[in-house]
Amino acid sequence: MIFDILTLFPDMFRGPFDESIIRRGQNKGLTEIRLHQIRDYAQDRHHTVDDSPYGGGAGMLMKPEPLASCIEAAKAINPSAIVLLTTPQGRLLNQSITRELSLHSGLIIVCGRYEGVDERIHLKYVDYEISIGDYVLSGGELAAMVLVDAVTRLIPGVLGSEESVQNDTLSNGLLKHPQYTRPPEFKELSVPDILLSGNHAEIAFWRRAQSIKRTFEKRPDLLKNAVLSEKEMLYLSSLDIADAV
Ligand code: ADE
Repeated sequence: MIFDILTLFPDMFRGPFDESIIRRGQNKGLTEIRLHQIRDYAQDRHHTVDDSPYGGGAGMLMKPEPLASCIEAAKAINPSAIVLLTTPQGRLLNQSITRELSLHSGLIIVCGRYEGVDERIHLKYVDYEISIGDYVLSGGELAAMVLVDAVTRLIPGVLGSEESVQNDTLSNGLLKHPQYTRPPEFKELSVPDILLSGNHAEIAFWRRAQSIKRTFEKRPDLLKNAVLSEKEMLYLSSLDIADAV
């Protein structure tokens, strides 16, 4: 997977992209991340990248010409990539979108800034607009980092074993079950007996039931897309609605 990131603030990425899973993806040669300074594509002496909106109003917009040249340059070196724009107006990112994106061979991520981007960039170049939540960031860079992280960990071979991805919260549409490690007793709270029983079938059953219960209590909205067996549906309907937070 090759990520081309188009931004006015490439230095923002240096720390996060040099650590942990994102670093590992690159070290293993499974991902490549290239940062492009949009300002380098501005034609005028002052390297202007923003301008005021036609029709008036507060704030500035990203000018179309430098952005278009920068996108075209990225497409030239990553021709099969799709173009994403990070914006609070985009599709709300979730695990199924990240999975979809991870199947592409390249992603060109345009980080929006100011009050937005000239509409003709959306119309001419952008395949998907992505939002990471219903709140407004100062720019799309943090959203691009979130995207790169969430997609990178889905690239086969980046994580130690495929198990870890399969067991992720949300990978099956449910929240993760409670987890414990040593010691068996901590601050007068014990690890549930079942986890110490060594009975793998029962442990798997308990975990699945806990996932369903937890999703019901914390994120009932997720249940409409979860795939449950008949037995699990029965279990779900036995949970008391009064338990839901
Ligand atoms: N840019 C500003 N806010 C954003 C958000 N919530 N998601 C993606 N890009 C953004």
